[in-house]
Amino acid sequence: MDFSHKIITKSAQETAGVGEEIGNNLKSPRVLCFYGELGTGKTTFVQGFAKGLGITSRLLSPTFIIVRRYNIPDSAGFLYHLDLYRVEEKDLAELGVSDMLSDPDSIVVIEWAEKLGNWLPKDRVDITFSVLPNGNHEIRYQKGN
Ligand SMILES: Nc1ncnc2c1ncn2[C@@H]1O[C@H](COP(=O)(O)OP(=O)(O)OP(=O)(O)O)[C@@H](O)[C@H]1O
Ligand SMILES: [Mg+2]
Repeated sequence: MDFSHKIITKSAQETAGVGEEIGNNLKSPRVLCFYGELGTGKTTFVQGFAKGLGITSRLLSPTFIIVRRYNIPDSAGFLYHLDLYRVEEKDLAELGVSDMLSDPDSIVVIEWAEKLGNWLPKDRVDITFSVLPNGNHEIRYQKGN
């Protein structure tokens, strides 16, 4: 997969569709970091991404509970969906973030990933969301390091 892309979406469905395609095809890295202001489409993307992994349960935003976990069909691992908007770096240890990031079977998707600070793994994909003046949403993604 070419890991430097910019995509414009005109609807939430399109944003979820981009996520679904990536969920369908992702081999590695297993950590996806999401950046962008409130309401730019991060959770919408993750809903499609989970569908692409074969997860059929409804994916809710983890805004208030910080982390949600889903079984991945035909896999020993989990999809961990984190929203760090309300989290400080000093609280990451007790959330178990390090175990999630180091589990080779699991996939970790993180909204407001800049809050990871020093915990940000080198092997990751960075996905940045913004809303354009015309109301379309822009999604840029590239391999981290
Ligand atoms: N092209 C588009 N892509 C994504 N979302 C869109 C688009 N057009 C409109 N929307 C709407 O924008 C909102 C995006 O909300 P979403 O919860 O995905 O954002 P978020 O980035 O996760 O926000 P937060 O930082 O609060 O968690 C949804 O209500 C969605 O329907
Ligand atoms: Mg969200």
